[in-house]
Amino acid sequence: MNLQHETEEALAASLTEVRRNLHREPELSNEEFRTTQKLREWLTEASIHILDLPLKTGLIAEVGQGDGPIVAVRCDIDALPIEEQTELPFASTISGKMHACGHDFHTAVILGATLLLKQHEHELHGKVRLLFQPAEETGHGAEDVLASGGLNDVEAIFGLHNSPDLPTGAFGTRTGALTAGVDRFEITVKGVGAHAATPEKGVDSIVTAAQIITMLQTVVSRQNNTQEPVVLSVTRINGGFTWNVLPEKVELEGTVRTYNEDIRRSIPDQMTRIIEGIAAAAGAEAQLHWYPGPPATINHGEWTDFTKEVAAQAGYTVHDIPPQMGGEDFSYYLQQIPGAFVNIGTGPNYALHHPRFDVDEAAILPAAKYFATLAGQALAKLAAEE
Ligand code: NI
Repeated sequence: MNLQHETEEALAASLTEVRRNLHREPELSNEEFRTTQKLREWLTEASIHILDLPLKTGLIAEVGQGDGPIVAVRCDIDALPIEEQTELPFASTISGKMHACGHDFHTAVILGATLLLKQHEHELHGKVRLLFQPAEETGHGAEDVLASGGLNDVEAIFGLHNSPDLPTGAFGTRTGALTAGVDRFEITVKGVGAHAATPEKGVDSIVTAAQIITMLQTVVSRQNNTQEPVVLSVTRINGGFTWNVLPEKVELEGTVRTYNEDIRRSIPDQMTRIIEGIAAAAGAEAQLHWYPGPPATINHGEWTDFTKEVAAQAGYTVHDIPPQMGGEDFSYYLQQIPGAFVNIGTGPNYALHHPRFDVDEAAILPAAKYFATLAGQALAKLAAEE
C-alpha cells in the first residue's frame, strides 16, 4: 500500500484504507505477526526508523532529532475472539476474530501521527517514540514493552482509546483514575460428597459455596469505605453433575475492580477471611486463588490538563468523563512515566466488544493530527523546562 500524505484528503484516505486493511485481518493478543509485518512495511516505506527491540509482536518507531527530551505515544494493535456481525464490506475475513475494540482505529491514528511527525521532523525539540503495543486485551502487553527497554528515557507518555459513547469531534479524559484495577479470582470449595438423601453423611460444598458468594458481597457493602468504589462479581459457578448426589467440590470464578491501589491490595485478605471462615464453619475447606491484572489507570494532573488544552486548540469539544470499571494496561506505563490516557469520540456506536461494534472513520485524521501536535508540543514544553 502506498501511504499518500501529500494532502490531508490523501492522508485521510490512506489511513482509512490502513484501518480497513487491519480490520479485515484481526489477530489475537501475542499473535499479531501479520499486523506487525504490515506496520514494518508501511513505516519502512515512509523512511521511519524502527527500534531494534526484543519484542515478539508489536514495535516502536522513532521520529525526531538531537538529544533533547523523549516522549511516547501509544496505540494497541490486537483484536478479540468475537465473531463479527457488522456486514461491513471490510468485515473480518478470519472466523471468530474481530477488531471489536477499535484497536485498528488506534493503529491507523498513530500511524498517521507518525507520518505527520516525520514531515516536521526537523522542527521537533527531541524524539517521539510511536509505540504499537501488542496484547492489550490480555492485560500483559505493556509489561513486555517495559521489559524490552523501548520506553527507557521517555519523560511523558500518552495513549488513546476510541469512545462509542462520545460523538466524533468530542474528546474526554480526567485527572486521576480513568480505568479500574482488574483482578481475577478463583475459589475452590471442597466438602465431602454424599447421597442427596443423606446430607448428614457428607459436607455440602454447594450450600457452603452459596454462603460464600452471598457473604463476599459484604466486602464491598460492609468492609469497604463507601467513598472508594469496588466491584466484586462472581461470574462462574461449577459444581455437581446430577440431581441426587451432593458433589465433593464447587469452583467459583470472578473479578474485582478497584481504583485505589491500597484498597486493591487489601481485598484478597478480606475475601480469604470470609472464604476460610465460612468453610470452617461448615467443616469444608476452601481456598482463594488470586490472579492480578493491570492496575487502575491513574492520569497525571499536569499532563492531563495539557492533553485537554491541546485538544481544545485542535477544535475538539473537551469533556471531563467519569472513571469506568473496565481495564486498560496503559496503567503500567503511568506507574513509571508521567502522562495521560484520553478518549477520542467515534460514536454513537455499539459498545466496545460488541459483535456489531464500529467506529466513525471521519475521526481518524483529526486524531492523527491531534497526537502529532500533542507529541510535538509536549517535546517543546519539556525542552523549555530543561
Ligand atoms: Ni480496547
